[in-house]
Amino acid sequence: SIRLAFIPILLAILNFSDGRVKFTHSSLYDENDFVGKTRIEIEECSNVALCVIYVSILSDQNLHDVYSNLQMSSEFRQWNMTLIQLNAMRNKTTKEIDPYFIVNGEDEPSGTTYFFNHNDKQIAAPLVIYAVNLDNEPNNANAAVYDAGSIGEGFEKGKIVTILNAHPFTATIAADANTLGTVFATGFDNADPNDDNPDKCRHVMSMRPGLGVVTFQINGPIASIYFSDFQGLNHVSSSAIQQISQEN
Ligand SMILES: *[C@@H]1O[C@H](CO)[C@@H](O)[C@H](O)[C@H]1NC(C)=O
Ligand SMILES: *[C@@H]1O[C@H](CO)[C@@H](O)[C@H](O)[C@H]1NC(C)=O
Repeated sequence: SIRLAFIPILLAILNFSDGRVKFTHSSLYDENDFVGKTRIEIEECSNVALCVIYVSILSDQNLHDVYSNLQMSSEFRQWNMTLIQLNAMRNKTTKEIDPYFIVNGEDEPSGTTYFFNHNDKQIAAPLVIYAVNLDNEPNNANAAVYDAGSIGEGFEKGKIVTILNAHPFTATIAADANTLGTVFATGFDNADPNDDNPDKCRHVMSMRPGLGVVTFQINGPIASIYFSDFQGLNHVSSSAIQQISQEN
């Protein structure tokens, strides 16, 4: 018998609608960071040995040009990666977001990394950019990052699962009886089951999904689930909530 819990998680601690949220190893950027700006610096990827960028945007053809005009590059523009290109970086087998790496000293020198906004009137569109400085970040080796809109049927993998979406989303998790799942409203860099993380982020819930299946709603751009049992079969599925009520 399957027990179904539906628990809306309201992220009162962090106000994600005001743009960048800065953590010790990472930042989350949203559309508000770009509105009215010709460029913004991605500090996590400036003058560091190694950083990763994970992107999630909406799959809406009407927004294609807006996303194309948001381009990551160094200040000298020797290379350009549009949000469309970054968002297309997905592992077709695992459905993971393949991060874009910036490696200092390689053909894409780190220097200072920016996103440029080439849109008329510097408009933007819903987006999530999760930028992580990996120079001293220990969790990334055990983490897999997904877009809520394309996890699909679910999967079995590893210790930390991070989910991104520009819209609120639901996640459903299941695991074996011995596994404790701990949910954070942050990226993998703050997903420590004992809340012993660099930014003192408290977990929002923890459960043993082995007793059933747990579905919860995330009203923010990111969630991470830490599974205590690395050996077990941990399943996560997710979907973005397309119908969002209009605020104001
Ligand atoms: C990157 O985009 C900018 C702005 O459109 C352009 O000036 C520059 O030449 C591009 N760089 C490359 C390598 O295509
Ligand atoms: C996708 O992920 C699998 C499993 O981690 C890996 O073996 C494979 O090389 C990845 N594919 C690509 C194209 O990176």
